[in-house]
Amino acid sequence: MGFDSPNQHCKFEVPEIIFGRGLLNQVGACARRLGGKKVFLVSDEGLFRAGWVDRVIKSLLDAGLTFVLYDQITSNPKDHEIEDGYREYLKHGTDVIVGLGGGSAMDAAKGIAILGSNGGRLQDYRGTDRIHCPLPPLVLCPTTCGTGSDVSQFAVINDTAEQCKFTIMSRCIAPDISLTDPDTLETLPDEYVGSSAVDALSHAVEAYFSVAASSLTDVNAQEALILLNKSFVNAVQERRADDLENLSRASLHAGMAFSNALLGIGHALSHPIGGLYNANHGHVNAVLLPEVLRFDFPVVEKKLAGFAAALGHHSAGNGKAAEEMALETIDTLLDAGGGPRSLRKLGVREEDLPGLAERALKDVCVLTSPRQTDEEDLFGILKRAY
Ligand SMILES: [Fe+2]
Repeated sequence: MGFDSPNQHCKFEVPEIIFGRGLLNQVGACARRLGGKKVFLVSDEGLFRAGWVDRVIKSLLDAGLTFVLYDQITSNPKDHEIEDGYREYLKHGTDVIVGLGGGSAMDAAKGIAILGSNGGRLQDYRGTDRIHCPLPPLVLCPTTCGTGSDVSQFAVINDTAEQCKFTIMSRCIAPDISLTDPDTLETLPDEYVGSSAVDALSHAVEAYFSVAASSLTDVNAQEALILLNKSFVNAVQERRADDLENLSRASLHAGMAFSNALLGIGHALSHPIGGLYNANHGHVNAVLLPEVLRFDFPVVEKKLAGFAAALGHHSAGNGKAAEEMALETIDTLLDAGGGPRSLRKLGVREEDLPGLAERALKDVCVLTSPRQTDEEDLFGILKRAY
């Protein structure tokens, strides 16, 4: 794989990473190692029903810890759910925070941790580097294969009054430990395997073409693309453990890439749509990604060969052929995701498109887009994806 990013200087930050099947029973030892005595466990009801919450609770008890469970988190985590969790965190005098679940549970755990040491409202920390006090110790355990929140410096929260998601970005909110047990994918419904893997795909693509990409983020983005190309279709069709593990691994690599290279206009557009319609994040990304790529291709020629190669087209070069081959493969992967393939089918109202473009332009992810953009460009992408 090529080290073809133009950035010679780079900073690359990741948490301690623990990855492997069956390792969820290590959560208790991790929490104890971080000084925990009474753990605040953030999850959701689906994980409880699947038995994974009980697995973590056993691990905490085996490590001699007590715990408080907060599982009132829903998809696109809402500001009021996180504020309620924060009050529970304070009330019980807990210390280490463990987030178990998809992006919603993990971002909620980050939100509770932010409030736990900084106070105020979540909206106070919207944007970049606005958190000043270090967070309580944090262990994040992903149970989907796309969010990357377990290694990232981002949290995305739904402002329910504004009906819009907002992003908090800070080095402070990367957890102390990211612990992935790919076995948890075995109980994840097909729909969520597909949609979360699409999210990992869009993270890898947007990070690879980000203006903040470096050799270190490129190698992770490319590895994610290789793994997704190898295992995505098989994982959703046959659900073999090896392929599911590759999706977990792809999510981890894509997470490390985007946490350090940041993202682009795909996510800038996806955030307001997810906030307004409470839509599945991966499905929204799937609709947007081809149009975002067509928009970006004219300014990323130098990286096309590496992109196409990671998707299996090793002699594609940097020209139109590479664009077409890469788009075809991306399209196959997005089909495997199983979601609707247009904004209209997702339930987006055409009259909302101008407002969505206006909101997207204010999203922090616009800043690292490889191609400078304005509201009219964003509206055009939304129209083409409609
Ligand atoms: Fe995402």
